[in-house]
Amino acid sequence: MDDFKSGSENESYGSLAMPTSFASPKKILRFADLFSGLGGFHVALEKQGMQCIFASELDGELRDIYERNFGLRPEGDIRKVNELDIPPHDVLCAGFPCQPFSSAGKKKGAACPASGKLIDDVFRIVRAHKPSFVMLENVPEILTIQNGEFWDHIKRTFIKLGYTIDYRIYSPHEFGIPQKRERVFVVASQVGLDHFSWPVINLHPVKKLSDLIGNDTETRPLEKEKIKVLKRWQALITEVKTFSHKTTLAAEFGADYPLTDLKRMTLKEMRLFRGAFGASLSECKTWAEVMSKLPHYVGGKDGKTPEWLKQSIIHSRQLYEQHVDFLDVWKTDFIDSHNSWQKMEWRGNRQVPSIWKHTIQFRASGIRISKPDYAPSLVAMTPTQTPIIGAKRRYMSVREAAALQSLDGLKHFPKFNGMAFKALGNAVNAHIVGEIANQLIR
Ligand SMILES: C[S@@+](CC[C@H](N)C(=O)[O-])C[C@H]1O[C@@H](n2cnc3c(N)ncnc32)[C@H](O)[C@@H]1O
Repeated sequence: MDDFKSGSENESYGSLAMPTSFASPKKILRFADLFSGLGGFHVALEKQGMQCIFASELDGELRDIYERNFGLRPEGDIRKVNELDIPPHDVLCAGFPCQPFSSAGKKKGAACPASGKLIDDVFRIVRAHKPSFVMLENVPEILTIQNGEFWDHIKRTFIKLGYTIDYRIYSPHEFGIPQKRERVFVVASQVGLDHFSWPVINLHPVKKLSDLIGNDTETRPLEKEKIKVLKRWQALITEVKTFSHKTTLAAEFGADYPLTDLKRMTLKEMRLFRGAFGASLSECKTWAEVMSKLPHYVGGKDGKTPEWLKQSIIHSRQLYEQHVDFLDVWKTDFIDSHNSWQKMEWRGNRQVPSIWKHTIQFRASGIRISKPDYAPSLVAMTPTQTPIIGAKRRYMSVREAAALQSLDGLKHFPKFNGMAFKALGNAVNAHIVGEIANQLIR
């Protein structure tokens, strides 16, 4: 993705003189906030002294929260808003929904029937109002999706409408905020971009995540059963004293089933092996019985073990060979636990062999232990994926997550943690927007 870190698209229009209105210190610039969410753009531009004249947000609860925070009620579905009903404005902001483009999504891009085409609603409004500046934010995949066709569509349309356009990928950690989360920021200008330079990164010492962790009272303690499972994994770490970035798979302790294509094996051959946690396959009378005794990640539709898991399987079996006595006892606690609790992904500090000094996430792919310096990227995650502050044995609070998006100044957030984290995961980092706007809108 480095090749796409930035890319000037200034080729169409040279720099024009700034309109006189911009030179006037008295004029308060007006902005429209499309797909307004929690209001990351709003926070940033209001801080620059600008005034929001219009917002649009599909989600009813987010509209209520926005109104409570900013005193302006967003309209609903932008597809139903007549562009001529939107008041004139100088700056248009749009963090259009990223689901169709993110790697977790279906990669349909503009071909996506509903939200993939929302960029065209942005253009409909740009065409009608010709704001001097447009700011977009999205996942970096929009640059490459559909072999670059979607990005070409954005570029060409802006150029056709008389804008000079440029983009850059930034992450909050490049601005001293302890969250690694790359997003592409696009600026489009009616007056050229000669006056503009992208904010310089790495000027700020990066705060550690622990610096943002306070003594919040509104926090969710870690459930007892999760504490118990983490204590078991800690016992393993303390015993084996080695760290691997490969996933450790408890179900492989004692297993020796072949990693080849299972469809090539006969039932008779399979009976010679051991399945998950060392379960004997010798008595299995059917393939269904064999499969029920293998780890859940083995033998998908094609009967093959996923290539990306093979290294982790080999690593786990080697670990077992080196610590058979300990692991034979250790593994018994895991046999009936959740599949995802049977896997540990160590992304932590090798010098600090304590889970409790790290950030923890219970993910579908396993329990992920990460360095405590940075928060895992806030994505629109499910509440179960909320990062856990190991040292405090509790989940990160909404306010702490908001600080990672430079939105901790907001008074109101969605009532339920799940919704609040989802909205924060969708939000744009207000500090980065502010830095860009400061250079762009002068
Ligand atoms: C990526 S988020 C943008 C978040 C925002 N920039 C912020 O700082 O919180 C996209 C938002 O667009 C909203 N949305 C999706 N479809 C929409 C539509 N048709 N009209 C208006 N809003 C829509 C979603 O509910 C979501 O809150």
